[in-house]
Amino acid sequence: MVQVSAGLEGVIAAATVLSDVDGQAGRLTIRGWAVEELAGRARFEDAVHLLLDGFFDDLPADLAPALGQARVRAFAEVAALDGALAAREPYDAMRALLARLPDGDSLRDALTLIAAPAVFTAAALRRRQGQEAIAPDPALSHAADFLRMIRGTTSTEGEARALDAYLVTVCDHGLNASTFAARVAASTRAGLASAVLAGLSTLKGPLHGGAPGPVIDTLDAIGAADNAVPWLEAALDAGERLMGFGHRIYRVRDPRADALKAALSRLSKSAGALPGRLALAEAVERAALDILRRRKPDRPLETNVEFYTALLLEALGLPPQAFTCVFAAGRTAGWIAHAREQQASGKLIRPQSVYVGPRPRAAA
Ligand code: ACO
Repeated sequence: MVQVSAGLEGVIAAATVLSDVDGQAGRLTIRGWAVEELAGRARFEDAVHLLLDGFFDDLPADLAPALGQARVRAFAEVAALDGALAAREPYDAMRALLARLPDGDSLRDALTLIAAPAVFTAAALRRRQGQEAIAPDPALSHAADFLRMIRGTTSTEGEARALDAYLVTVCDHGLNASTFAARVAASTRAGLASAVLAGLSTLKGPLHGGAPGPVIDTLDAIGAADNAVPWLEAALDAGERLMGFGHRIYRVRDPRADALKAALSRLSKSAGALPGRLALAEAVERAALDILRRRKPDRPLETNVEFYTALLLEALGLPPQAFTCVFAAGRTAGWIAHAREQQASGKLIRPQSVYVGPRPRAAA
């Protein structure tokens, strides 16, 4: 009897120097850095450099100017954001624009792809509201420029740091579903844009990168701490999953949740905002964890990255339709590094299936 590993659970499909997810200890290491450390001190540009180091010969020591120029290159495609595309969900509009980028393998191609989700997301959000897209300012940091292109005003240093912390926290995470998809595409020797598009399409679903929008829906529907227990119990009775909880690998708390909670607390101190929302979220989190422990005693279900993603991005004034786009803006760096690593291995990814369909028909 052939054993099928549903969802490839437990299957090791790549060796990587990029990141390590220790699900028992609740640790994420990104190229030798604990995620909490990296998120507290690195700009997104530094994390991109860390990930791409060794995968391109011509990587400059400071990536900020090159990433700024890459935003300008990506912005040239915003002209294709017509009314029909602007009416789609921002994620779909961003993905359609990204498909227009060259499918090459150079550092220039890689940086354009890493810069593009921020540029296209900002343009799609503005056009949806009937506003003009704002051109990038290559002199700004990626995070500060991302916020400026969305809002049209300069962000505070605290806000840019909070977005940096988010983008760094999610820049890579082992062989998650979207990274695996990117590696599969790269293994066929398709270009980097194809790998990113495979990753983008896989990130979209609510079991992966699409969860933080529904976290906000949950908080809005619960409304007040006293409603948390009955609301959550009713959702589970109806067979729903609680968004922002559970993970394939982590059996303890997702360390990224704490990295983002720390960023959120720094932001709320500098902006003087959010205590009410945070108090509600903490009450919902406590109630959800209690209920999940009671109802699923055999399956440790803890808070995952998406719960605090939702709170942090909301505190930055971003609308829920933008959350998965912003996730992609961070994770694209990881997809590109993994695609390069897969290309270097030279091996096509091609698993097997076991046939359980009807036997061949006998010849008449
Ligand atoms: N709420 C309620 N029950 C859950 C949840 C949840 N959030 N997560 C898992 N379970 C239950 C399942 O119903 C199942 O129970 P059963 O055995 O009684 O049927 C059991 O736990 C195992 O679930 P699986 O789907 O087999 O576990 P898997 O490892 O495939 O799931 C996943 C991981 C998809 C993330 C899951 O926990 C989930 O759906 N979470 C909610 C969505 C979410 O937050 N996604 C973001 C994940 S982080 C990221 O991708 C960046």
